[in-house]
Amino acid sequence: MAAEMALVKPITKFSSSTPRIGTSRVPSTRFFTIKMSSSTVAKKKSQKQEIKETLLTPRFYTTDFDEMEQLFNTQINKNLNMDEFEALLQEFKTDFNQTHFVRNKEFKEAADKIEGPLRQIFVEFLERSCTAEFSGFLLYKELGRRLKKTNPVVAEIFSLMSRDEARHAGFLNKGLSDFNLALDLGFLTKARKYTFFKPKFIFYATYLSEKIGYWRYITIYRHLKENPEYQCYPIFKYFENWCQDENRHGDFFSALMKAQPQFLNDWKAKLWARFFCLSVYVTMYLNDCQRTAFYEGIGLDTKEFDMHVIIETNRTTARIFPAVLDVENPEFKRKLDRMVEINEQLLAVGESDDIPLVKNLKRIPLIASLASELLAAYLMKPIESGSMDFAEFEPQVVY
Ligand SMILES: [Fe+2]
Ligand SMILES: [Fe+2]
Repeated sequence: MAAEMALVKPITKFSSSTPRIGTSRVPSTRFFTIKMSSSTVAKKKSQKQEIKETLLTPRFYTTDFDEMEQLFNTQINKNLNMDEFEALLQEFKTDFNQTHFVRNKEFKEAADKIEGPLRQIFVEFLERSCTAEFSGFLLYKELGRRLKKTNPVVAEIFSLMSRDEARHAGFLNKGLSDFNLALDLGFLTKARKYTFFKPKFIFYATYLSEKIGYWRYITIYRHLKENPEYQCYPIFKYFENWCQDENRHGDFFSALMKAQPQFLNDWKAKLWARFFCLSVYVTMYLNDCQRTAFYEGIGLDTKEFDMHVIIETNRTTARIFPAVLDVENPEFKRKLDRMVEINEQLLAVGESDDIPLVKNLKRIPLIASLASELLAAYLMKPIESGSMDFAEFEPQVVY
């Protein structure tokens, strides 16, 4: 997983049993260990800092694993095209990026040169990306474990995808070490709340998250290739191959959804598909517009970058989702921009010196306007899309 999908409110929250991870320990003497989001953990040392968690912070997900087992039981679900999954498994086993994520001394040297406000925003980029990647690792790892008996092929693909995400998260965490920081992933695994999504929602959300991640990474990569003067930190040079992992992950979810036509072929599916598209796009847009310094720091116009990513993701998504949003209609962008303005006002209220009661009163009309913009964007005339019978699935590299 590569992108964030946080605007959707959790249906239920609980601390699930979490999979064990192998890469959780971080050295602590030289680094500041960052612990995210636990009010229960006391700040024992000044070295430990916490990241403020908001509605837009990357989340961890869990699902109904019993239902997942039913969905991938070949005795029950005759739509499962196991030849297709076998082919995908072979592709994942090939492990194209096995030797890709190797660091060099350029990283630390580049990080030392990043100073001022850009340094802080860079750190935040690395933290959020690492958390999003790690979130994918946890979910896929658990799915790989839980589906082993029911469908060993699908289970192994999930395990291999968790391998990819662990690599991505680890690489980003090493990037943080260039800034003398480290995310305590073991702590995160235990301490964070997990958002529960039913399997069909996991499919929509993770598919979109993978594809939007692909488009984000490839767009940044291409931009920096054309404008090397903005290449201020070498991690971006790895995005070209990295994003192919995300693309493959997305294609796997596409194959999964084709095997569950009930999630794609009725009016409810159309409503949910639009809802998830909107949630993912708005979350990214609001998040990125709060961090324009980062995108400007690498020579991008934040809104232009985001719209490009949204449009491309939407076009890709239209190949499988039964309906998508009309994001190329200028009215859609106007609505996003209004949401950014309202979000800025909400943030300003939060940062004001008012007492909590006054802050809450001031928030009410803003939240109402945000909700009404969201609803209006959701109700814009959608684009009917998807094709359950589209050509045979062909894994392919997209550049
Ligand atoms: Fe990833
Ligand atoms: Fe991924």
